[in-house]
Amino acid sequence: MNTKSLSEAARDIKPYRPAPPIREIVKGQDMCVLKLNSNENLFLSRKQVQEVLLEAAYETDPRIYPQDEEQQLRQQIAKLNKIESDQVMITTGGDQLIELLFSLLSPGDSVTAVSPTFSMYPRAAKQRGVKLVEAMLDPDFSLNPEKTLELAKGSALLVICNPNNPTGNQFPRESVIKLIEGFDGLVLLDEAYQEYSEYSLAELVSEYDNLVILRTFSKAYGLAGLRLGYCIACEALVSTLREKYMMPYPVSNLILRAGIKMIEQAPTVLEAVMEAKQERAWLTSELNKVPGVEAFSSDACFVLFKTEKPITGVYEALLSQGIIVSRQTVFGTEYLRVTVAPRKLGERFIEALREATR
Ligand SMILES: Cc1ncc(COP(=O)(O)O)c(C=O)c1O
Repeated sequence: MNTKSLSEAARDIKPYRPAPPIREIVKGQDMCVLKLNSNENLFLSRKQVQEVLLEAAYETDPRIYPQDEEQQLRQQIAKLNKIESDQVMITTGGDQLIELLFSLLSPGDSVTAVSPTFSMYPRAAKQRGVKLVEAMLDPDFSLNPEKTLELAKGSALLVICNPNNPTGNQFPRESVIKLIEGFDGLVLLDEAYQEYSEYSLAELVSEYDNLVILRTFSKAYGLAGLRLGYCIACEALVSTLREKYMMPYPVSNLILRAGIKMIEQAPTVLEAVMEAKQERAWLTSELNKVPGVEAFSSDACFVLFKTEKPITGVYEALLSQGIIVSRQTVFGTEYLRVTVAPRKLGERFIEALREATR
């Protein structure tokens, strides 16, 4: 490997370019930027979460490697999800699990992803040089398990994002179980938005040894900036991944402790989730009242919508008013995705969108 071969191998990998940083958008103007592009939890106050972090900092000795914080966090996660702690592995955000599972594939393998979906799966496939088969949802975003299994035949990994990003819908439980039962290889079930949805399949990891579930503290648990996630799978798989394929200290003792403290705040998190669900209903209905806008129902903390006006103009007009949303391509057409936010912020967004689509 040298610099030239590395950059040649990376030719097809699109750089991940998040929206411009808030400071760049403000450009010295007197403007409060509304960041609604990454599905973060704006229902928990910054102060609440900062206090958790401060407490964690006071209890942490940064001079030494993590001790038993990881075990404590795994136990709490297990209790929360009604599973065993040896069915839990801690990761640096959910993204690390995606990277890890794809890194276990060999060139020549293929991966099937129920699509359109989260952009990190195609990216990970490109990084690994494996083929990605896109098992397309029906035009109304529904999942056809039989068709998906047919397309996934021969793949080493099947990825299902549930609720799906960016469409927002959660697939019927029986359909997902059909996929897990009918697929020969590993199934990565991405439940990053589970807390906002109707169900989780976490308890099924004892039953299905090919099921690997991704979860994160970045969404409902309000810790996106700290990069903390976890994997739920059967004991054998967790012990292999954790003891053989992970580096020993993927997450710092400070962040592990913050995770422990955040789980202690689970009732507050749940309250914030309940509020977000109410605001999701309000936002979807308000979006559909805006002329030329069609919004889709969601089981996550964001809503996907399309506009009659070209998306670029709408996106730019929102940005000029200090509102960042996310551009998404679904079945070859551009859509926008907006994070559900507390009412005042939601109202500001709807007002700006009315202006932008006029
Ligand atoms: C579907 C899905 N999975 C995984 C992730 C990764 O989350 P994180 O790495 O912040 O835990 C995201 C982030 O937006 C996501 O939308």
